[in-house]
Amino acid sequence: MHTVQVDTPGGHYPIHIGRGRLAALADSIPADATAIAVVTNTTVAALYGAPVKAALAATGKPLTWLELADGEQHKTFESLNQIFDALLADARDRKVVLVALGGGVVGDMAGFAAACYMRGVRFVQVPTTLLAQVDSSVGGKTAINHPRGKNMIGAFYQPQAVEIDPAVLATLPAREVSAGLAEVIKYGMIADAPFFDWCEAHVAALRALDDDAVAYAIRRSCELKAQVVSQDERESGLRAILNFGHTFGHAIESGLGYGAWLHGEAVGCGMVLAARLSVRECGLDPAVAERIQALVAAIGCPVQAPDLGPDRWFELMRVDKKNEGHHIRYVLLPALGRATVQAVDDARVRPLLPAGNLGA
Ligand code: NAD
Ligand code: GLY
Repeated sequence: MHTVQVDTPGGHYPIHIGRGRLAALADSIPADATAIAVVTNTTVAALYGAPVKAALAATGKPLTWLELADGEQHKTFESLNQIFDALLADARDRKVVLVALGGGVVGDMAGFAAACYMRGVRFVQVPTTLLAQVDSSVGGKTAINHPRGKNMIGAFYQPQAVEIDPAVLATLPAREVSAGLAEVIKYGMIADAPFFDWCEAHVAALRALDDDAVAYAIRRSCELKAQVVSQDERESGLRAILNFGHTFGHAIESGLGYGAWLHGEAVGCGMVLAARLSVRECGLDPAVAERIQALVAAIGCPVQAPDLGPDRWFELMRVDKKNEGHHIRYVLLPALGRATVQAVDDARVRPLLPAGNLGA
């Protein structure tokens, strides 16, 4: 097992990475917990419900078990309320410990429920997608979507522990693997050029879920994310670099309807656009932008942006938590492995978007 430590003002906790962590889940439940509430979805429950129940039975604690509907389109207030209903129906007190068992959708919602229930109860992240293992389970961002904008309602709320068992990735559809790899390669682009080189060299092994390649990718991604969030938990500056490609990506997700493109796919395509914008705005070597596009394609994510209509892109990108006033702020790369955040006028972005010249 490998451990990565996260240290933020909002909490200090370990990320445990290793095969067998699912079976050892009881270790992460604090002794004084009065009950455990597992929040998962119907897909993950069918695959891992039985082993997780068996692992948690070792604690001898009462269990609330909730299976939400699967999908980004269910990352809503209604699903959140189902979690509160289940906790209240079982009369769970402040010492209940929530367990988020699933991908980023379940993790973000269960974390937000933990932040709100009785003004805050403890929770453990048990991420079961590659994307959640390398990104969403770490750092304490929790949220639901609003029809007008992605992740617009939420809280910063750190888990007690993150338990990552790479063995569960064996059942993940190939498209979800590709989406998770988008967040892996992001870390190389924004903070670690040698890791980007390594990803280029190991893309086939990563897509094939080779044990050693995936273990290293998860570990390095968690280390890089832990470094960033430990310096800037609440995104007052540095943390925004983790949103590279997300300004465009979130617009794609909400513009096409949640769930049409996977989050990682939208981020992958968004990183291609952000790299092209970086060439125009902050001198990124065009050859690096080409490498970024080639790697996004190689992991199996789309590189061709959808046509949302030129004005609609900006309408959507104006609903972004990084923005100040009406200026859209983008994460840009002056060089591979280095990121910055700056406002860019719409007129300079427009030509990069599908049919952008029509609206200019
Ligand atoms: P997801 O949670 O929808 O999971 C993807 C699909 O895989 C779902 O159908 C799920 O049921 C299924 N699944 C999960 N584990 C599986 C397994 N082991 N085997 C087979 N199928 C499995 O999507 P995601 O990509 O994990 O997460 C995307 C979400 O994460 C988005 O809502 C995004 O906004 C959020 N996110 C949050 C952060 C953060 O810092 N909090 C960071 C990145 C993304
Ligand atoms: N995924 C972006 C962040 O955690 O800040």
